[in-house]
Amino acid sequence: MDIFEKTTALLNEVNDATITSVESLETFRIRFLGTKNVLKDIFGEIKNVPNERKKEFGQLVNSVKQAAEEKFAIHQAQLQSNTDVAENIDLSLPGDITTTGSRHPIQLVKNRIIEIFSKIGFNVEEDREIEDDWHNFTALNMPEDHPARDMQDTFFINVNPDIVLRTHTSSVQVRVMENQKPPIRILSPGRVYRNETISARSHCFFHQVEGLYIDENVSFADLLQTLDFFVKELFGQDIKIKVRPSYFPFTEPSAEVDVTCFICGGGGCNVCKHSGWVEILGCGMVDPKVLENCNIDPKKYAGFAFGMGVERITMLKYQIKDIRLMSENDTRFLEQFKSAR
Ligand code: DAH
Repeated sequence: MDIFEKTTALLNEVNDATITSVESLETFRIRFLGTKNVLKDIFGEIKNVPNERKKEFGQLVNSVKQAAEEKFAIHQAQLQSNTDVAENIDLSLPGDITTTGSRHPIQLVKNRIIEIFSKIGFNVEEDREIEDDWHNFTALNMPEDHPARDMQDTFFINVNPDIVLRTHTSSVQVRVMENQKPPIRILSPGRVYRNETISARSHCFFHQVEGLYIDENVSFADLLQTLDFFVKELFGQDIKIKVRPSYFPFTEPSAEVDVTCFICGGGGCNVCKHSGWVEILGCGMVDPKVLENCNIDPKKYAGFAFGMGVERITMLKYQIKDIRLMSENDTRFLEQFKSAR
């Protein structure tokens, strides 16, 4: 093997060397880049190379050195970054437990209500929580001094008694009727406010879902059919509804709807106060005066409306005994709804 072949063999050795550890890197360094490296010995033999090939030989030795330096640098950096990572991981530390969030029970129920009504063509319409007197009361057939206003303990805005925190989502009915032409089929979920003493059963803010259907030839039978469908979808096909005459200023006739108590199955329990029935919503045929107030011709159109409290339905559905739990954000309470539907 002549000196050229020997040098080429060294170049191949550099290229083929496998470096996987700090030790093998050091062996490589000593052999090719150390103070007594093989290239020095080889280069010492330049004196035996004929003059006309000395340059070629010099270049060949240099290329081996260069290849060795590059390979060394690359592997050194690689091993360094591996040890950095390894050194920074303390395997004895407890792991980070990432918890997944869950939907709030109010959201679960609200979304379910929207889902059910969207199957029969109701669209969601949301509107403001700070309302004027007209949309919250007057247009809904509750002029000033109307006794029905007392049914809803209202929060007024100090500087302007014409502005209130809406006491119900029925205000959205008015806004929609003022701005859309029949047929109208909307569902309006949202937060409402009442100046009530906070207790296990009532709060100063809660959520309602309002429904409104206006078209030609809408009858009370359509209302009952719609609510029967809704209740069965929400609570189960065995549930029955009972409709009791009631009074709301914005509907005529008005009714309240009870469902068979799904906790005791109608036999009587604390939730239904041993009556076998629980009330879930108010409803009725939209009063012609309300239609008129919103520029809809009551001779041509009729409609029904209904309103329900989301907290109430949520409490019934999940057997929650205190309404305050739903606004306290105690994770021990909220975590129980992780797999709820
Ligand atoms: N707005 C009523 C309340 O807050 C609920 C209600 C009753 C809404 C009858 C309606 C309805 O649309 O027709 O108590």
